[in-house]
Amino acid sequence: MNAEVTSKRLLIDGVWTDPVSGEWFETRNPATGELLAQIAKGGSADIDAAVAAARRAFESGPWPKFSPADRQALILRLADLLEAHGEEFARLDTTEMGSPIRHTRGSVALLVDLLRYYAGIARSIEGSVPAPSDPALFVATVKEPVGVCGAIIPWNGPLWASVLKLGPVLASGCTLVLKPAEDASLAPLRLAELALEAGVPAGVFNVVTGFGADAGAALAAHPGVDKIAFTGSEATGRRIVQASAGNLKRLSLELGGKSPNVVFADADLEKAAQMAVVAAFANSGQVCSAGTRLFVERSVHREFAQEVARIAAALKIGNGLDPETDLGPLVSARQLERVSTHMADALTAGAEAISGGGRLSGEGLDAGFFFPPTVLLGAQDDMRCVREEIFGPILATLSFDSEEEAIARANATEFGLGAGLWTRDLGRAHRLSRALKAGSVWVNCYNRIDPAVSSGGIKASGQGREYGRQHVEEHFQTKSIWIDTSV
Ligand code: NAI
Ligand code: MG
Repeated sequence: MNAEVTSKRLLIDGVWTDPVSGEWFETRNPATGELLAQIAKGGSADIDAAVAAARRAFESGPWPKFSPADRQALILRLADLLEAHGEEFARLDTTEMGSPIRHTRGSVALLVDLLRYYAGIARSIEGSVPAPSDPALFVATVKEPVGVCGAIIPWNGPLWASVLKLGPVLASGCTLVLKPAEDASLAPLRLAELALEAGVPAGVFNVVTGFGADAGAALAAHPGVDKIAFTGSEATGRRIVQASAGNLKRLSLELGGKSPNVVFADADLEKAAQMAVVAAFANSGQVCSAGTRLFVERSVHREFAQEVARIAAALKIGNGLDPETDLGPLVSARQLERVSTHMADALTAGAEAISGGGRLSGEGLDAGFFFPPTVLLGAQDDMRCVREEIFGPILATLSFDSEEEAIARANATEFGLGAGLWTRDLGRAHRLSRALKAGSVWVNCYNRIDPAVSSGGIKASGQGREYGRQHVEEHFQTKSIWIDTSV
């Protein structure tokens, strides 16, 4: 082990702590193979300690006494610190998981805004005073924080997912144990340092790094956890649901997708083609809402697919730290292997790659996990490349003849996260935005996100909503208080 490589410990009860296992694992830059740090391998004993700390912090000490104004001020301080360290965070995510620096800088800006939005919500939590049938009764409903929250997050936006889980926890007065993905722990750990600096009391925000099968599974099953927020694969999501049964904890799940992007011949085809590339290939396709099934009206399909392939092939692939880079590497050897397997399978099934098609090699590329943006022609709805989430830069193009056919085929998936629609026909835009079965429908745009707008999935893409007022509301339970005024 290189003695100069730093070791990153667990944050439990406000103290940086060695893992009980005494074990550490490496995190490396997927563009270069460079060793970045040793990360503590947390397990169930560390999860126990973190959950106990989160429970103490929720029930006693300074945190329950924080007023809404105190919580707002705290979140605003954290937002300011994140903004001040924005470049550092952008570089952390880019070096640890490969995303281009332009992308990670943009994420930081949005996350600062997101925290400020949650800070506002902290001040506007309201119950109600319903009017019961019995006039002698006075009834009030009040919102109370749900308690100890656990968050299990993926590697495709490490800072993003950490801030998204922490913001509503702080706004609502809950406490948190965060389990980062084993491929990307550095930004969550740095965020925890800033949280302490901002004045988040000990135990309110705990971070236990480690692997899913031990630290993650222990958190998901823990009887002392009241709510789990999970973002990741559908398969792991099912395990989280099963693990939650022990104490019937509340769940929010943000799982995968196979989102359709539907282009009609009457659309602004130039803009649609440019955005189809962004929808499918941003973050090298490692995006839950990536538009990976591109349905194009038959009269323009072939030409449109060629145009998408031309734009995709011109993207600059390389180390994400280069400001010119459009596409960085995939996150890990494992992800490259998964994507390559899907690629081989698509070709065997009879699809044809009109751009990309296999791992990139050559100068500056061999040490990293680089895969080019790949556009497929000749894919069929029943092929794996059209049915399964690939989480890499592979886009299936499909043609359709009618609006009804487009709707039926776009909806013929177990997933329902996002859907794109390109048309200049106002009536059609309205019809399809209701007919497409997805948590978000983007018309003449794709993958728009705003702090004020709730987002999430239907069907196997998940449950619960993030962003917006609803995200914070899901961290409360409603208590009704009944007073018999005749006494
Ligand atoms: P994963 O779902 O296994 O990992 C996500 C998180 O869950 C990580 O923190 C991991 O440590 C944790 N985890 C794993 N097993 C667990 C368990 N039994 N109990 C509790 N926590 C557990 O995803 P992975 O293996 O990194 O990627 C596999 C595929 O999942 C990708 O190819 C992609 O298709 C999909 N995925 C989807 C994401 C999304 O945003 N919807 C994000 C990441 C992956
Ligand atoms: Mg890595």
